[in-house]
Amino acid sequence: MADKSSRGLADVVAATTSISDIDGEEGRLFYRGYDINDITGRISFEECVHLLQRGDLPTADELGAFANELTGARWIGETTEALLPHVVRSGTPMEALRTLVSSLAVDDPDAADSSVEADRRKATRLVAQMPVLVARYHADRSGREVAEGDPSLGIAGNFLLQVTGERPADRAAEIFDACLVLHADHTMNASTFTARVVAATLSDIHSAITGAMGALRGPLHGGANEAVMKTLSSIEGGVDTVDRFVRDELSAGRKLMGFGHRVYKAEDPRATHLRRMSEELAELTGNRHYFDFSRRMEKAVFDTKGLYPNVDFYAASVYHALGIPTDLFTPVFAISRMSGWTAHVIEQHEDNRLIRPASEYTGPVGRRWKDISER
Ligand code: ACO
Repeated sequence: MADKSSRGLADVVAATTSISDIDGEEGRLFYRGYDINDITGRISFEECVHLLQRGDLPTADELGAFANELTGARWIGETTEALLPHVVRSGTPMEALRTLVSSLAVDDPDAADSSVEADRRKATRLVAQMPVLVARYHADRSGREVAEGDPSLGIAGNFLLQVTGERPADRAAEIFDACLVLHADHTMNASTFTARVVAATLSDIHSAITGAMGALRGPLHGGANEAVMKTLSSIEGGVDTVDRFVRDELSAGRKLMGFGHRVYKAEDPRATHLRRMSEELAELTGNRHYFDFSRRMEKAVFDTKGLYPNVDFYAASVYHALGIPTDLFTPVFAISRMSGWTAHVIEQHEDNRLIRPASEYTGPVGRRWKDISER
């Protein structure tokens, strides 16, 4: 049997990185040395992308130039345009978007350039294109035109505008902006590791990101936020039924999505911020239903199993209150995480070594070939 401690590569240091760091015992997360608690609500997603991809928070001039660069990079290309109506017909959002992200490579002006400098340009484009893809996907499947972007709104505000069709309230846009900051990077999570494994073969950034999209989709990773919303909305009855629901699920041996984490032994600091946002939105919208259910579920899961909520748990009620359709929750995660994924691909390509771990063979040995008539 393989050593249990290496199952799922738990605690294995698979790469060095200067992009983000987690203190799992204390429940702290850092982006390039900045504590997430210090920057959430104080920097925009655009500043966060600059920090992750380029190493530092931008000056005012740098931010202006970077924001212009992002705005100018929203074009998704003719190939992706042509593909959109087909994937809208056939796929769930994450399947469709995984295919669309892959297709962005075709018309990328740097497609044939595998230098790290070209990676940086493609990274900026991918961050700019991702919210456009999600908004376009949603508009196409809803049979309507996507709303014209508003240059006075950043990535967060424009996304809410284009998905809901209504200009978001200032506070709603600020909250969503902070959500994008909170989801931007998280060390060697499954999708980032996937991106690095692909990049480490010296494959291209679009291939790495397509792999990351596939990894993010699963319910044990980014797919959990959608699963949380489905769980919350499946509970029949009032808030008092939550305790019983939790007990029944756990005693049936089922996992409750949005709880537990490989690295955090204390509360996930992102969950602390998202809980606050969920409560604020409950008050602003005058609808406390999902916040109250979430609070009750959090308490019941902690009392029964000692598990803390992770980033996906309160993200569900926050996105719901912001008017985002449930099946776009994981794509929203991808909009944000694109910044971290691309930063990691750049870092991998800057100092590359093939990622190729070992395995321990547990199958039969010493078998001898027999002719097919004797098997
Ligand atoms: N509900 C119930 N029990 C749980 C949960 C949960 N959400 N999470 C962990 N446990 C239990 C397991 O059943 C296991 O119990 P056991 O030792 O009695 O068998 C123990 O806690 C350890 O759990 P593992 O799944 O082995 O822990 P691992 O580190 O491999 O997995 C993971 C971490 C995948 C996040 C897990 O906690 C989980 O499945 N959570 C639900 C899915 C989820 O919310 N994913 C999003 C994570 S955050 C992100 O990726 C963005």
